[in-house]
This record gives sequence, C-alpha cells and structure tokens, in this order.
Amino acid sequence: MSVDPSALLPGGTSQAERASQAGAASQGPWPGVIRRYREFLPVTDATPIITLNEGNTPLVPAIRIAERAGLERPVHLKLEGLNPTGSFKDRGMTLAVSKAVEDGARAVLCASTGNTSASAAAYAARAGIRSVVLIPRGKIALGKLTQAIIHNASVIQIEGSFDDALNLVKAVCRDHPITLVNSLNPHRLEGQMTAAFEVCEQLGGRVPDFHYIPVGNAGNITAYWMGYRKFHERGWTDALPRMRGWQAEGAAPIVRGRVVENPETFASAIRIGNPASWKSALSAAEESGGRIDMVSDEEIQAAYRLLASAEGIFCEPASAASVAGLLKDAAAGRIPRDAEIVCTLTGHGLKDPESVIRMSEKPATVEADVDAVVARLDLDGEPAGGRNRLKGAGEGGSR
Ligand code: F0G
Repeated sequence: MSVDPSALLPGGTSQAERASQAGAASQGPWPGVIRRYREFLPVTDATPIITLNEGNTPLVPAIRIAERAGLERPVHLKLEGLNPTGSFKDRGMTLAVSKAVEDGARAVLCASTGNTSASAAAYAARAGIRSVVLIPRGKIALGKLTQAIIHNASVIQIEGSFDDALNLVKAVCRDHPITLVNSLNPHRLEGQMTAAFEVCEQLGGRVPDFHYIPVGNAGNITAYWMGYRKFHERGWTDALPRMRGWQAEGAAPIVRGRVVENPETFASAIRIGNPASWKSALSAAEESGGRIDMVSDEEIQAAYRLLASAEGIFCEPASAASVAGLLKDAAAGRIPRDAEIVCTLTGHGLKDPESVIRMSEKPATVEADVDAVVARLDLDGEPAGGRNRLKGAGEGGSR
C-alpha cells in the first residue's frame, strides 16, 4: 500500500509551501541506514533490505557534563541506545544480515558480550532465518540474554570468555554453511560507519574536534573513522576529528600492547582481551592524531551515575567509558576549553538493570498511609531522589 503524500497536506497553503511540504512528506519516515546511505554501501537492486529502520539516533547536548569537564560548549552525546534493539550494533547488523540473505544464507552465527547477539537475533527473525549465538556463561547482561531468547536465537553458553567464543565461531564458520556476523564480517563495519555520517549531518556539516568512544572488540572506533574519512573525501566536511577510544583498565589489551588472558571489568560489554579489530583501531587513533587509553571501573561508574543523575541519560556501563575518558582527559588538561566534543553512548541502560541494583540501596517501603509517606518525604531535607540514591553517589549522585 502506498500513501499519497499530498493527502497529508493541509488545505489553503501557497503552492510553494505545498511543494516543499510534499517534498518533505514524500521522503517519508526515516528508512533505516541502508536506504538513507545507499550510495556508500555495497547494495544493489538485488539486495533484500532487512531493516528495523535503525539509525537516526539523537545527538543530545549535555551542559552539565561540559561544566564538569570545564568546557565552554555543550558536549554532544550520540544516543545509540535508541536503536531498535537498544545498541549501535543494529547499524551493522542490517547490512550484514541483508547481504547474508542476498547470498542465500539460512543461518547466521556470532560470538557476543550480549549486544551483537541481541541484534543478530532480531535481524535474523526479521529476515526469517535462523540465528545461533555463543556467549560467555554468566557474563552478559540479563536484558541482552533476554533479547536473544525472545527473538528465538539458539543460545549456546560456553565455559569461557568472549575471546574463546569468537575463536569458536570463526572455526565453525570456516567449515559449515553458516554466516559469521561478528565485526570480522566487513559489512558490519560498513553499516556502523553511518553513525559518523549522522554526526556530521547533525552538526550541520561540521565534524567534532574530538570523538570519544568505548573500545571493546574495536570495530566501532574503526567504523567511525571510516565514516568520517568518507565524508571528508567527498568534500562534504572540511576536517577530521581526533578519535579518542577508551578501554577498561582490566580489559585494555590495546593500551597495554598485549593480549589480556582474563579480562575483567564491571562494563561487561567491553570485557575483551584480544580485540578482532586491534590493528585498524590503532590506525584510526594514530591517523586521526588521537589515542586509545583506559579508564578504571570507578571512573566508568562515576560517569555512568553522572549521566543518569545530572543529564537524565541512562546508558549501559560500557557506554559510559566514553564520558569517563572525556572527564579524565579534561582533568589532565588534554583538551582545549572551546573544543567541540562528541561522545558515543553505545547502548541503553535498561539492557543491564542488575548493574544498577547491585550498586544501589533498596528503595524504602512504608505503610500505604499518607502520614507514613509524608514522614518519608523529608521535603526540607535532601533533594528529590536523595533517599534512593546510588551507594556512594557523592560524584554527581545528587546535586
Ligand atoms: N559498547 C557496547 C554497549 C558494546 O556492546 C560494545 C561491544 C562496545 C561498546 C565496544 O564496541 O567492540 O566495536 O569496540 N559489544 C560487542 C558485543 C563485543 O558482542 O555485543 P567495539
């Protein structure tokens, strides 16, 4: 069924207005990243486009984070948690699954710290093909596991790490008719570079001076750098940002220059000891004049709380590594006060409610009685939210 855009137009407007309104209406709703950025992606008329209309995520100004960092301009937060499955993975998965279906695949396979498996499962369901996901047992956030299950993935938990799972899926895909949809599949990164395109467009054709981003398997920093370079090569932007990637201290193989055998961090999504895109991530950092560095779990937690309590933005722990990195750089005087900054927040906080519950005091319970509620309100005391604030939330927990 097709909708006639002119049917949406109000009567009595001038012809010029009608023409421009018809133009806007005929563009229709956001069509997903493949249709929007088709000219940059390896699709033809023969490619079945498997989409959940991913992308077009907001770039939200964060004044209080900027204040905390001593910056003069708001920091821009790219909220990738607002993609259909709640993380940036959807940008790459739409292309990887579309190309897999074009090539006749009946099943896709991935290893994951959670978000890739959620996205692969959803896009495979959309395509009507099977998905199989390998995850480290007991080490992925509950919301992500829930997504894989409800989208009908075959979920296999392994007694091992994400890195072990990745080695296993690589070996399986070599010898069996199942398509790998980890970021070793080049279509994943091609799809993910659309996030950089959006940033350039959302900034009105500018690029940020610095782009802050968490680093796990190191695909996303690679993809953003590809995207920024593509727009620059076309002459659509006149500069390139410095890429600043952040690993967690207990899972920082790139920073330490060696594989980490037993990576450990509170930010489970980036608990990775041997990233697949290690070299290309390093190139992205070096070519851009940026750097890959690390933040402690305490710094990640402080940024996680600050985003939620001071900006109203709930991201997952790994995502907060970008803002933790920004605050660390700012404290060390490594960024000019007038810099324009974008931080990618890679996944939605609701993916991982357990992390919040673990670090928080239980909410108070009182009788269902007005006096009991009023007694508990303490309106002259702490600000709203103070009662249930996070344990040790001095840093931005209540203001
Ligand atoms: N943030 C989140 C929320 C992630 O899920 C990941 C990676 C990253 C950051 C790091 O991105 O790997 O491109 O450097 N998650 C993968 C997964 C590994 O399996 O979901 P990266």
